[in-house]
Parts: sequence; structure tokens; C-alpha cells
Amino acid sequence: MQRVLWITGAGSGMGQAVARSASHAGWTVVLSGRRPEALRDTASSLPGPVLELPLDVRDGDAVRAARARVVAEFGRIDALVLAAGRNTPRRQWDDQDVEEFHDVVAVNLGAVVTVLDAALPDLRERSGVAVVISSYAGWAFHPNAGIAYSASKSALSSVVRTLNSGEAAHGVRATHLCPGDVDTDFLDQRPQVPDATARGRMLTADDVARTVQFVLDSPAHVRIDELVVSPVTPASRR
Ligand SMILES: NC(=O)c1ccc[n+]([C@@H]2O[C@H](COP(=O)([O-])OP(=O)(O)OC[C@H]3O[C@@H](n4cnc5c(N)ncnc54)[C@H](OP(=O)(O)O)[C@@H]3O)[C@@H](O)[C@H]2O)c1
Repeated sequence: MQRVLWITGAGSGMGQAVARSASHAGWTVVLSGRRPEALRDTASSLPGPVLELPLDVRDGDAVRAARARVVAEFGRIDALVLAAGRNTPRRQWDDQDVEEFHDVVAVNLGAVVTVLDAALPDLRERSGVAVVISSYAGWAFHPNAGIAYSASKSALSSVVRTLNSGEAAHGVRATHLCPGDVDTDFLDQRPQVPDATARGRMLTADDVARTVQFVLDSPAHVRIDELVVSPVTPASRR
């Protein structure tokens, strides 16, 4: 039986690139995100078995139902890649909307815990691995990332550490993955959207997927607690 990977944010960007790389590496992939057509698009390019489960990660009942569906369909969940995330252009103290603050935190932090909690029994059974896609802003303070984004992503470090310390006895492993700028649709949420030249200097979604694949394929006795991946740019351009 092929190993089963459940990906959130699988309809675009890094989640989609991870689906491609894992499917080519022989994993069965389960794709979640809100837009069914985006999941369909990801699924259509994959060589191996795939299940599309559209959902909003903020909806705990939908997450738990999806987990049950994966187990009913494949009998196991070996790995999670949690890429669903959001930011907002209005992100500083002088322009934020506090309702939006709570929503960014709900997607970037609350929903990560919801999915991990739902799939934990399955990860325990398989010495499973979870890759939490955080951010460079979750590793080192970056003022431009905004209040909600910085707070929610840096909290993921604690989520991963508590999981790794609390669940080591069951063989569960988690990675706090902190990418720098990646050329995806995500950048459209910035107050100043980067142009093609700036995007050309960034990481690609495939660069991050290659890193994730390394974690997924590492043996069960290896835990990779944290990884920081940055584009190499001359200091003057940063
Ligand atoms: N791009 C960067 O520079 C960068 C750098 C560091 C970290 N990150 C992080 O990397 C992760 C992936 O982002 P990306 O760059 O690949 O951008 P992306 O293409 O915009 O991916 C974000 C994904 O999250 C999904 N999503 C958002 N809200 C959701 C919700 N409530 N329920 C379910 N799915 C939801 C979106 O799908 P739907 O709209 O269909 O739901 C989308 O597929 C994010 O967590 C982001 O914070 C990005």
C-alpha cells in the first residue's frame, strides 16, 4: 500500500508543487483547499492516486470529516503538509482590521492545530511526519509581514516543538519549514505587489517542494525540527 499524504492549500503554489513531487515519488495524495476547481487542476497533472477533498480549514467539522474519509478510503495517513495560509494587505497597526487579524490567525495557526489534532491518531500509527509551512517571518522578525501574519507564523514554532516533545514516544515528527520569498499568488496580498523582476529573484514553489520531499522521504528515526530556505540575493536588493 502506498504511503498517504494529506496536503492543505493544495490548489496552488507550494501545496500544488508538493502534490506533484510527492505523487511522482510514489505517494498517494489527498488534496484540500476551498476551491474545488483549483484542486481539480492540481489533480489533473498527477501520475498517481489522488483524492480531492475541498474544505475550509477553519471548519473543524469539515476537517474531521475529511480525515475520516481519507481513512475510510485508504486506511492510513502517513504525512501532512500544511500549506493553507493567508495574509492581508492591511497588516500594520495604522491600517489593520481586527476582524481580519482574527481570520489570519484562524487560518495560519488555529487551522494548523485543528488538522494536526484530527490526524494525530493516524500519525501515531505510522510514525508519521507533519510539515508545517510557516515563513521566514515565523523564524526571524520581519516588520513588513504584518502583525497577524508574524504572530501566527511565529507561533507555529511552538506548535511544532510541543508536538515533537509530546509525541516523540509515538514516533510522530514535525518540521517547522520557514521559506523566504516564493513566487506564488500569495504575493498578490502584499500592499505593494512585486513585479516580474523581483519575482524572478525569489524561490519557486518547486524549490520548496524539493525541500518538503526530503523531509517526507527521511527515515522514521529522523526528525527535522526546523528548516529555513531563502533565495540568494545580493544584500543591496533585500
Ligand atoms: N509565497 C511566499 O512568499 C511565502 C513565503 C513564506 C511562507 N508562505 C506560506 O506558504 C504557504 C503556501 O502559500 P503559497 O505561497 O503557496 O501561496 P498560495 O498559492 O496563495 O497558497 C495558499 C493556499 O492556501 C489555501 N487556503 C487559504 N485559505 C484557506 C482556507 N480557509 N481553507 C483552506 N485552504 C485555504 C488557498 O486555497 P483556496 O483559496 O482554494 O482555499 C491556497 O491554495 C502559506 O501558508 C504561506 O503563508 C508563503
